[in-house]
Amino acid sequence: MSDRAGIMGVDILHIPVMAKEVIEFLPPVTEGIFIDATVGFGGHAKEILSEYPRVVLVGIDRDPEAVTTATENLRGFQNRAIVLHGRYDEEGIFEKAIVSANEIAGRPGKAPEVMAVLFDLGVNSYQLDEAGRGFSYMKSGSLDMRMDTSKGETASEFLQKVSFEDLKALLYANGEYKYAGKLAKEIIACRPVKTTEELSQIVEASIPKSMRRRGHPAKRVFQALRIAVNEEIVFLADAVARAFEVLATGGRLLVLSYHSGEDRIIKTSFNLLADGGCKCPKSLPCRCGAVIKGKLLTRRSLTPGKEEIDRNSRAASARFRAIEKIQPIYLKDLP
Ligand SMILES: C[S@@+](CC[C@H](N)C(=O)[O-])C[C@H]1O[C@@H](n2cnc3c(N)ncnc32)[C@H](O)[C@@H]1O
Repeated sequence: MSDRAGIMGVDILHIPVMAKEVIEFLPPVTEGIFIDATVGFGGHAKEILSEYPRVVLVGIDRDPEAVTTATENLRGFQNRAIVLHGRYDEEGIFEKAIVSANEIAGRPGKAPEVMAVLFDLGVNSYQLDEAGRGFSYMKSGSLDMRMDTSKGETASEFLQKVSFEDLKALLYANGEYKYAGKLAKEIIACRPVKTTEELSQIVEASIPKSMRRRGHPAKRVFQALRIAVNEEIVFLADAVARAFEVLATGGRLLVLSYHSGEDRIIKTSFNLLADGGCKCPKSLPCRCGAVIKGKLLTRRSLTPGKEEIDRNSRAASARFRAIEKIQPIYLKDLP
């Protein structure tokens, strides 16, 4: 089957990561709007719609190919599923999702009742597997890496403009502690870097064999570049806060992240919602007006079991966290 036929057909399905936990932590409701902020090919969405036969689900994805495929994959759930092209971190996207949900359910103007928002961060299997998208150091292709191929700067264009200091900082932040400077220097010296192969070769030549850690040395470099090109970290905290805002009381926010930088943002955001961020001395009553808005459903992040990792190696780095929206409590009112 050709690539195009594959993307248009139902034969592509991202195996949903920690689907059992996702279903388990969704709220105990029968109706309402669920938003899948990173619908991908609809793997989680399909499971959710089957498990909740009366909810309306709105999927969002910035990748036009994912939108086409998810729409196809969810076609069986008539009047209960719609997929929007957009970014979860774009202003007003969740409000737009609510309007769409009510329109397909034939109840325009109905008050919002968002009971769940799911984020399954990062890239989907097709983006990684498709050489032409340029995400994989294992496939040769042009160094693109844009999740939304309709706009923005490719990884190659990004590398063409980035300064040595910024590139070094980016690589360092993504775990390349020892070789960040050397890698940044070599990459800049070899510009323009147009293909995945060229970048892989530069990385291999820069890190001596004896110093390589587990896995291919280009893995972390590709990940760092992908995160920068798609601004995956910069707007995450705001997007999570906005998603929490649109939830109804009792609604739940569920997040799957795949590297420590993402998980740290989710942990910090959830902790702030659950403790109000009060900075007053512990021995005195709260005077700063801190408000508790959420209840943590996972104190520590959950990780997939060995059996799931054996079945789907891409689940290996997953971390799952969930929080429930509660009636606001002023810390000063607590006994
Ligand atoms: C891990 S995949 C989701 C897979 C999906 N849960 C499934 O089971 O099929 C992540 C998806 O999020 C999308 N994505 C990443 N950043 C996004 C953003 N800022 N806004 C919307 N979608 C985004 C990617 O294009 C990708 O399709």
